[in-house]
Amino acid sequence: MATFKTLVLVTGATSGIGFELAAQLLAKGTYHVFLGARNPEKGHAAVATLRARNPAGSVEMLHLDVTEDTTIESAAHSIQQSHGHLDILVNNAAVSAMTGPSLREQMRAAFDTNATGPAVVASVFAPLLQNSTAASRRIINVTSGAGSIERRLDPSSPIYNVQQVQYRASKTALHMVSACQLVEFAPFGVKVFLYDPGFTQSNLGPHNTEANGARAAADSVRPLMDVLEGKRDDEVGKILHNTGSWPW
Ligand SMILES: NC(=O)c1ccc[n+]([C@@H]2O[C@H](COP(=O)([O-])OP(=O)(O)OC[C@H]3O[C@@H](n4cnc5c(N)ncnc54)[C@H](OP(=O)(O)O)[C@@H]3O)[C@@H](O)[C@H]2O)c1
Repeated sequence: MATFKTLVLVTGATSGIGFELAAQLLAKGTYHVFLGARNPEKGHAAVATLRARNPAGSVEMLHLDVTEDTTIESAAHSIQQSHGHLDILVNNAAVSAMTGPSLREQMRAAFDTNATGPAVVASVFAPLLQNSTAASRRIINVTSGAGSIERRLDPSSPIYNVQQVQYRASKTALHMVSACQLVEFAPFGVKVFLYDPGFTQSNLGPHNTEANGARAAADSVRPLMDVLEGKRDDEVGKILHNTGSWPW
């Protein structure tokens, strides 16, 4: 299928920040969004909700569980067959892994989804990203300031008393994954960004509510759109947030 729209894949787009990113991309009209979903039923429901808004852009569901290699490979194969390239990959899917039978299981789940997932997805989609001729070609890894080692050790940080080692350590690992991708993809003109949306209303954990001071997903996604649209390209190589960057 020939298309002149910028092709964007958002993993974990069935709720929260991923869903809102899909919505804001669709409102622009210049994007075709692959809405990544580990649960196809939820994915189809999300697509139906977005299409019901009569957006200017186009969207399709892509079954993709970032912990299941077969779904990653068949998702890439499907885009290869239909479009032959991908312009923008947003590794957004993550879990907080706060519950689980043991710390080992929590660590395993957090690392598998939040660090290994983005590494494998980018690796499998690398040929499609390398086929992109869009000036905006890029990978955006959605992270958290909770993964900054320097912030972890800063007693004045607002999240100093939040331990969550499984989530924090998995996001720190994602930072190294991103640094490696930055070096790996540079020869192909594919930029790699880390973006922290900040405390946001979503399904990530029980605390991600308006009552707890989490901001609306729409407000967290607007600055992410700026990163996606190249407005912060001079800050590549940093851990970006809405108004600046975090130390590594
Ligand atoms: N919300 C915050 O305060 C905050 C702050 C900093 C960073 N972040 C980051 O923002 C990103 C989005 O999180 P969110 O807050 O929007 O949480 P969310 O509402 O829970 O969304 C997470 C998404 O990831 C999907 N997902 C989970 N495991 C997956 C897997 N194995 N394969 C594919 N998709 C999977 C979920 O799918 P299901 O619908 O099937 O569960 C859901 O669509 C994450 O990277 C998170 O770490 C969030």
